[in-house]
Amino acid sequence: MKTQYYTATSLDGFLATEDDSLDWLFPLGELNNSSYPEFISEVGALAMGSATYEWMVRHAEQVAKETGSPWPYSQPAWIFSSRKLPMIDGADIHFANGDVHQIHREMRGAAKDKNIWVVGGGDLAGQFYDAGLLDEIIVQIGSATLGKGKPLFPRCVLSPTLQLISVRQLGVGMAELRYEVHKSV
Ligand SMILES: NC(=O)c1ccc[n+]([C@@H]2O[C@H](COP(=O)([O-])OP(=O)(O)OC[C@H]3O[C@@H](n4cnc5c(N)ncnc54)[C@H](OP(=O)(O)O)[C@@H]3O)[C@@H](O)[C@H]2O)c1
Repeated sequence: MKTQYYTATSLDGFLATEDDSLDWLFPLGELNNSSYPEFISEVGALAMGSATYEWMVRHAEQVAKETGSPWPYSQPAWIFSSRKLPMIDGADIHFANGDVHQIHREMRGAAKDKNIWVVGGGDLAGQFYDAGLLDEIIVQIGSATLGKGKPLFPRCVLSPTLQLISVRQLGVGMAELRYEVHKSV
């Protein structure tokens, strides 16, 4: 069972524009032609921050058209927020606030022998990293730059550095890098 931060980023390290748009991302590749179907089949629980969740709330209609449901995940999801957020119909959601350690324990129990997907954003992935709970970073780097936006991973990782375990080209729009997080303790 691994805890994995799996995401797409612009070439200059942003998940989304400053106003949370992902419009730059979709023309770069087709999800079903990526590693996503294999990845998601091994996921037992998800974690996401409120801006990521609120994107799903705002785009529920579009997501439903594309996937058949406003919430495309069958796994339980933990949404991190200090605020009261709306529910999405049919979603198995737990709201969480504060330290990731205890929530991670809950998520492990729910995921059983499957993986935990930290969907984003970057600082939430950083909180799992800070807590020594992150095992892998799997990042699809898009052939686009944004100049500014929501950061991929606002942390300083120098010693030990991440260990590159695979590189894969996905057409002309994306390259996927997989890194193992080596823990210093
Ligand atoms: N490119 C991709 O593949 C990809 C992947 C993931 C996300 N995204 C996009 O990237 C953007 C990410 O936004 P973001 O960087 O702002 O990150 P985010 O993690 O989605 O949201 C950050 C917010 O989550 C809440 N939060 C985080 N940690 C918490 C904790 N431990 N306890 C309680 N609340 C906590 C806080 O807000 P409150 O307390 O005010 O609620 C915080 O401001 C979104 O637009 C998303 O759609 C893109």
